[in-house]
Amino acid sequence: MDKDTINRILELTDIVELIGSYFPLKKTGTNYKALCPFHQEKTPSFVVSEKKQIYKCFGCGKAGNAISFVMEYEKLSFPEAIKKLAQRVGIVLKSDKTSPQKKSKKELIYKIYKLSNAFFQDNLKNYGGIAQNYLQERNIGKETIIKFELGYALDSFGGLKNYLLKNQINEKILPLTGLFSEGNKGWYDTFRNRLMFPIRSVNGKVVAFGGRVLADDQKGGKYINSPTTPIYTKGRELYGLDKTRFEIAKLDEAIICEGYTDLLRLYEFGFKNCVASLGTSLTDQQINLLSRYAGRAVVLYDGDLAGRKAAFRAGSNLLKADIKARIAEIPEGNDPDSFLVKQGRDALKKLITTAPDLINFLKNDAVMKLDMKAKLELLVEVLNDLNDKMGQELLIKQIADIFSISERALLERIKPVSIISSKNQMKQKYIRYGEERELLKHILTKPEMFKKVAQELDSSYFLFKIYSEIYEELIKHKMETERLATFLEEIKKEDVRTAIAELAMEEIEDENFSDLLKVVKLRKLKFDLKQINKGLLQDPENKELKNTKHELRRKIINLDNKVVTKTLY
Ligand code: CTP
Ligand code: MN
Repeated sequence: MDKDTINRILELTDIVELIGSYFPLKKTGTNYKALCPFHQEKTPSFVVSEKKQIYKCFGCGKAGNAISFVMEYEKLSFPEAIKKLAQRVGIVLKSDKTSPQKKSKKELIYKIYKLSNAFFQDNLKNYGGIAQNYLQERNIGKETIIKFELGYALDSFGGLKNYLLKNQINEKILPLTGLFSEGNKGWYDTFRNRLMFPIRSVNGKVVAFGGRVLADDQKGGKYINSPTTPIYTKGRELYGLDKTRFEIAKLDEAIICEGYTDLLRLYEFGFKNCVASLGTSLTDQQINLLSRYAGRAVVLYDGDLAGRKAAFRAGSNLLKADIKARIAEIPEGNDPDSFLVKQGRDALKKLITTAPDLINFLKNDAVMKLDMKAKLELLVEVLNDLNDKMGQELLIKQIADIFSISERALLERIKPVSIISSKNQMKQKYIRYGEERELLKHILTKPEMFKKVAQELDSSYFLFKIYSEIYEELIKHKMETERLATFLEEIKKEDVRTAIAELAMEEIEDENFSDLLKVVKLRKLKFDLKQINKGLLQDPENKELKNTKHELRRKIINLDNKVVTKTLY
C-alpha cells in the first residue's frame, strides 16, 4: 500500500462523519462525544476531534485516526480497513486496479490449496488405508475427520503435482505454493505419505497444511508445515479459529493448546472454544488475532518442562495484550490429547476451571526449578512490559499478596509506563516529566513551534522514553504534514502512535512555551551534570570531566534565572 494513497484516503475522510456513521456523536464545544465503543461506560468519555481528525477515549485510553478506528471497531486488518475507507471516499486502490497479475497469482494459490485440500481428502477415502489405520488407532472419530477435513498425502513424488497439472494449473506457479520441493528433475511433492491437516484463515480459506508422519521411523520431521507464501505468513494463523471463533466470542474465553491433535481432541470432547498455536510459542500476531474474539484465555500446553516454560511466556504475552490468562496444569508426560483420552472430559473440565492465573501458576510451579527470587524477577519483567498503568497496579497488589512481599519493593523495580491511561494518573505519576509532555503538546498542535524546538533540542533532551521516541518520530518525518492524522499514519510503533494521539487530544495546560522549552533544557543539563559528578567521584582529577562540568554549569546559569529557581530548587 503506498503512502500517498493512504494519505489521500485520510484527507478525503472526515472522521466525525465516519464515526458518526457507526453511532451518534454529540457536539460539545469544538469536539464530539459519545459512549466509548471499546469499553463499558455510563458517561461518555470517547472524544472525536474534527480539527485534528483523531479520536481518543479518556476512559480506556484508545486513541487514533480514521484507519485505526475502522480497524478497531470492525476488527479489520490494516489493508482491510484501507480498502473499506477507500471505497467510502471513492478511491480505486492500485492493488485492485493495476496489478491483476499479482492479484490473480494469489487467487491462483488459493485455488491450488483448495484443490489440494480436496485431493488429500479424496486420497484418505480411497487410498489412505495406512492413514485410516493410524486415525483409528488414535481413536480420532469420523465426524472429526470430516469436520476438520483431514486428508492423506500419497506416498508419491508426483501425486499432487500431476493432479494439479491435470486440473489446468500452470506448472510455473507450483514453486510459489510451498507445496513442492526442488530436485534434480524439477519440482516434486513435499508432503508424502503424511496425514494432512488443512489450516484455514479466519475468513475460511485454506492457506496452509501441516502433515504428520504415520510411523515413528518415517523420514523428515514429525510434522512438516507450509512455509510462508503469498497467502500465508507463518505464525499468523491460529489453527481451528475459523471454526471456533463464534464459541470463543460467546464465552469471551479461548483455550489455547499447542498441537493439531490436541485441538481435534478438545473439540471432540466438547471444548469448542479452542485454538492451537502450532508449536510452542504463541506469537504476538496470534495474540492480536485472538484479541478480536476473547478477553480471557486458558493456556493448555503440554505438561513437560518446555510446555510449562512456553505456557508462562504465552501467559505473560497475553497479559500484555490485555487478555487475562490462566494456565492449566496438565500432569507431566501428558498433552491435552492424551489427558482427555486417559482421564476424560470431566477431569479436563476441572483442570480448566481451577486453572490458576499467571502469578499463582508461577508461585506454585516446581517443574521449572526457579527460586522465589527468580520467579519475582520474571514477574517484574512482565510488570514492566505492561502498557496499562491500572492493570500494572492491580498486578502489583496481587503479586505482593501472593508472594508476601511489600508493594513498595515491587514499585521500586517498575519503570515508568509508556502510555498513560488517564489524565489524573498522569498528573500524579508523571509530574516529573510534565513539561516534556506540555512541550510536545505545543509542537504537535502547532507545527511552527516544532521548527523552533528542533533548532534547540535533540531527542536526548526528553528524559521520558516514550516522549523521546515521539520527538524522534517528529524529527524523522520533519512534521511536514499539517494534518496530525496523516502524520500518525507514518508511525510504525503502535505505542508511540497512540501516545501521540493522546497528547494531541489534551488541552494545553501550560501556555508559556518558552519557559517550557527552557525547563526541558535545564532538566537535561542537570541530568548530565549529575552523571558528570558521578564520574568525578570515581576520578576526581579527570580534566575532561572537569571541563564538561564547567561548561554545563555555565549553560545552566545562562538559562533564565526565574525558570531555574521555579523548577529546580
Ligand atoms: N510441530 C511442528 N513440527 C514438529 C513438531 C511439532 O510443527 N517437528 C508443531 C505441530 O503444530 C504440533 C505442535 O508443534 O502440532 C505440537 O507438537 P507436539 O506436542 O510434538 O505434537 P502433537 O500435536 O502432540 O502431535 P501428536 O500428538 O500427533 O504427536
Ligand atoms: Mn500429542
